Amino acid sequence: MWLNKDIVSIGDFSKEEILEVLERSENMVSYAKTGHPEKPLRDKIVATLFFEPSTRTRLSFESAAMRMGAGILGFGALESTSVVKGETLIDTVRIVESYSDVIVIRHPMEGAARLASEFAQVPVINAGDGAGQHPTQTLLDLFTIKRELGKLDNICVGIMGDLKYGRTVHSLSKALSLFKIDLHLISPETLKMPKHILKDISTKIKVQEHEDLEEIVQDLDVLYVTRIQKERFPDPEEYKKVAGSYYLKTSHLQKAKKSLIIMHPLPRVDEIPVEIDNYPQARYFKQAAYGVPVRMAILDLILRGE
Ligand code: NCD
Repeated sequence: MWLNKDIVSIGDFSKEEILEVLERSENMVSYAKTGHPEKPLRDKIVATLFFEPSTRTRLSFESAAMRMGAGILGFGALESTSVVKGETLIDTVRIVESYSDVIVIRHPMEGAARLASEFAQVPVINAGDGAGQHPTQTLLDLFTIKRELGKLDNICVGIMGDLKYGRTVHSLSKALSLFKIDLHLISPETLKMPKHILKDISTKIKVQEHEDLEEIVQDLDVLYVTRIQKERFPDPEEYKKVAGSYYLKTSHLQKAKKSLIIMHPLPRVDEIPVEIDNYPQARYFKQAAYGVPVRMAILDLILRGE
């Protein structure tokens, strides 16, 4: 199902295909520490082209590749590349495809991964395109919910933060609409979920919008928090108006279910205070760690179909 496929948008995949990744990821959890004993990707090379900053996504892809025995090449900063000489994205992709078996790309421009996938002969994985999509983050988010909560159906999920520019939540809400989910979107008025996404998911599941977490916190099984995407604001003054406008408080958690899980794609800025890190509900570091087994499964499925 996955062999040689591009992963550009989570919307390109069926529920069955998504569940297959989650199942394969389960098998990879123990190998994420020790490395896969058979090194099944030992003849493969994974290219990571990061035109935008990243810590978790790039390093967990590279760790996953190494745990599977693959070689890696690429860049995490543009200074050392011909991009600074004016080389186009398409030319860069055409070169790198001849050096590698799969290209993982992050770019500030929405649509960049789709464009790259149209030109590349090798599969392209979107590791974040501007305010567009971040499909592999969604796969690890779903994996976290399934593993930590034990199910993906009949749950109440709250997504709080910058829903306008946050690509992780664009992909996540689309994927959640494939399951039996009660979805609550919590954001300031100016950072609401884009209409086209809201329209799409509302035809499949029940979605409610809120401006205040207090209204709904007691019902949630999952609370997914995101930072305000400062770098995407066209006007810094607009950012200043919403900066610090919402954050999770310990008083919220007094009202929440004991079984609530708190997630965040990270990096966080000030929306979750560090004292919450010690609460049993906090799962964001575990979530980041699951990036490795999930990406091991993704690379294996794309490069070997297994
Ligand atoms: C996110 C991203 O880059 O979209 N981080 C990640 O990949 N884990 C979230 C963010 O930058 O806020």
